[in-house]
Order: sequence, then structure tokens, then C-alpha cells
Amino acid sequence: MGGKLLNAGARPIGPHSPVALRTLGIETSCDETAVAVVEADEQGCRLLGEALATRPHEHAELGGIVPELTVRQHLELLPKLLPEARRKSGEGKIDGVGATAGPGLAPALLVGLSFGKALAWAEKTSFHAINHLEGHLYSPFVSQGKWPHYPHVALIVSGGHTLLVEATGPDRRKILGTTRDDAAGEAFDKLARLVGLSYPGGAALEKEAAKGRSGTVSLPRPMQGAEGCDFSFSGLKNAARLLLEKNPSCGVAGKARADFCAEVQAAITECLVDRSAKALEQTGIRTFTLSGGVSANQGVLRALREMATKRGCDFLSATGGWNTDNASMIAAVVARRILDGQPADWDADADPRWSVAC
Ligand code: KG4
Ligand code: ZN
Repeated sequence: MGGKLLNAGARPIGPHSPVALRTLGIETSCDETAVAVVEADEQGCRLLGEALATRPHEHAELGGIVPELTVRQHLELLPKLLPEARRKSGEGKIDGVGATAGPGLAPALLVGLSFGKALAWAEKTSFHAINHLEGHLYSPFVSQGKWPHYPHVALIVSGGHTLLVEATGPDRRKILGTTRDDAAGEAFDKLARLVGLSYPGGAALEKEAAKGRSGTVSLPRPMQGAEGCDFSFSGLKNAARLLLEKNPSCGVAGKARADFCAEVQAAITECLVDRSAKALEQTGIRTFTLSGGVSANQGVLRALREMATKRGCDFLSATGGWNTDNASMIAAVVARRILDGQPADWDADADPRWSVAC
């Protein structure tokens, strides 16, 4: 496919466009299926409409994400979510389409990518392959109507990723730290499962933790004070397993389980705070951002905000539906690409391991 058809018949768009763009994003990298339309200009970006669906109960029954089930879900849902998102956004012309091309589950990414390319072709507009993690980096800013500003240190904490990123420009990013084993959200999910809370578990564990007290039982804070900014959560999981063997009451609904959950939340939070403080100290950067599903946790959010503001740094976090996986953040990156005059990506393939570094 050549680039000649790009934007044929569309409103004038490109660098410093005087007209607001409407871009459409598609997200299928994991178990959420989402389509969103945003409106954007040089001043900022705003969500016009999003349609999102997930089937956590189906995955819960099987204990995690099942690729075949996920692919079938995306295939079935995208044709339903597209008209819903367009209706919510007030219909109208689309000036660019984008889909998550990685990182993520290869067959799931392929569904969104193929759907997005076909849609862009039909709409006679450009197609853009978007990095899911770049979407997360945008979300603390665009959820507040702003474009990202640089430099900033970003913490992305989700079910699949725990990353500290130094972003010094739109395409200048360095990974300061990552997890050596489980992601923070995965740790929440696995520890929640150990005490009988169903997948994905993070939110349920937070609810339990609110009824208990940390410090009643004791769990380690892996990597705290260690060199660099890496994380590790597998030791926490093993320690929790041993603790549950010695104290089986922690695994049964009641006060002991609430105390256990409060300690889990405190341990994960303190690890996130310690490593993030190190990243700010190491870089001297004074803006800190937080995104990803785990940032929905009020304890995590509060502790990281306190850590950043204590150091005199600005703190921004993704709010509302922008912290968990969504298509609005993908549509926002598409809009920024077009405003910056970037070419279309018709030949892009799914890249399950696409790094956020560049
Ligand atoms: O960003 P996200 O929606 O999807 C991924 O890209 O993974 O993050 C999902 C993760 C899950 O591990 C889930 O348990 C966790 O975010 N999560 C939470 C909370 N809400 C979602 N973890 C802790 N506390 C919460 N309230
Ligand atoms: Zn994500």
C-alpha cells in the first residue's frame, strides 16, 4: 500500500494545523477491547467517545489471560464497539486511525492492527501503528487535556509492565528500571489469588487491605535501597507463600486476611516509592508521572504523590478510565503523530516485544 491515498479528501491536517483533528484509536494488546475517538489541536486533546469491553470473568474462571479466548473476544467485539464509539463521539469525519502494534499478545495485536488498517483504508485516511506503552506515557497528560511536556520521569505500573522511563523528548526515551520478574500488577494478582480473591485481584486486594493494618504480619520489600532502579516482586510472592503456610488464617476471609492484604499493599507500594525516588534523584528531573492499572490503587497513588511533592516535583497521574488499558491514549498518540507531520505506517507489523525506549 502506498502513501498516496493518505488523507485524500480529508480536512487540511499536518504540522500546526489550524483545524482540530478527530482521530480514532484501537486497543487490543491484552484482554481489553476498546475503540475511542479524540479531538486534538496544538493546545491539547480531549476524549469525544470511547467504547470498551472486557470479559474478566471468563478469564477469571481459567486463572489468567487465555490467548484464543482473547482473540475471539476482539474479533467479536470490535465491529460492535466501533459504531458505539463513533456514535458517542458525534459521528463525523475521522482524520487518522491508529492501533496498538505492541507490546502485547501477538495474535491479539494482529486483530486490532488489521481492523485498523482496513478502517483507515475505507475512511481514506492514514494508519498509524502505536506503542501501547507510549499511550500509557501520554495518559497522565492527555487525561487532563494537555500534551506531554519534557523532560519527565514516568512510572508505568500495570499487569504486564513495571517501568521507570526517562522521557526527554517525544521520541527520546530511556528505561531507567524495570522488573526482573513479575510486574507490580501481576504481584497484586498472584498474591490476591493466594488468599482466594479472584483474577485480576488488584482492586479486590485493595478493598481487603482497607479493612486491615500493615505491619501486623511482615513481608519483605525486595530491591529497596539497591543499586539502579530495577524492581523484583518474586521474593515477595515466595515470602507470602511461606507466611500463609505458617498462618493459614491469613488465607481465610476475616481480620487476618485483611491484615495480610494491607501488608502486601504496603510492601508493593514501598518498593514502587523507593525505586521512583531513586529515578528522580538519579536524573534530577522535576516532573513525575504515574499510569497503568495499578495507579488506580489509592494507597499507591497517595504514596507516590507524596514522594514526588516532598522532593519539589510536579506530580501527574492518569485519571478516570485513562489509568487502565484504553483506546483514548492510543487515539491521542495518533493525533500527536499527525500534528507533528509523521508519515503513515501501512507496512507496520505486530511487535509483541516493542520496547518503549527510543
Ligand atoms: O493497565 P492495566 O489495565 O492492564 C495491563 O496493561 O496490564 O492493568 C491491570 C492491572 C491488573 O494487574 C490489576 O490487578 C491491577 O492493574 N489493578 C490494581 C488495581 N486496579 C487494577 N492493582 C492494585 N490496586 C487496584 N485498585
Ligand atoms: Zn497497559
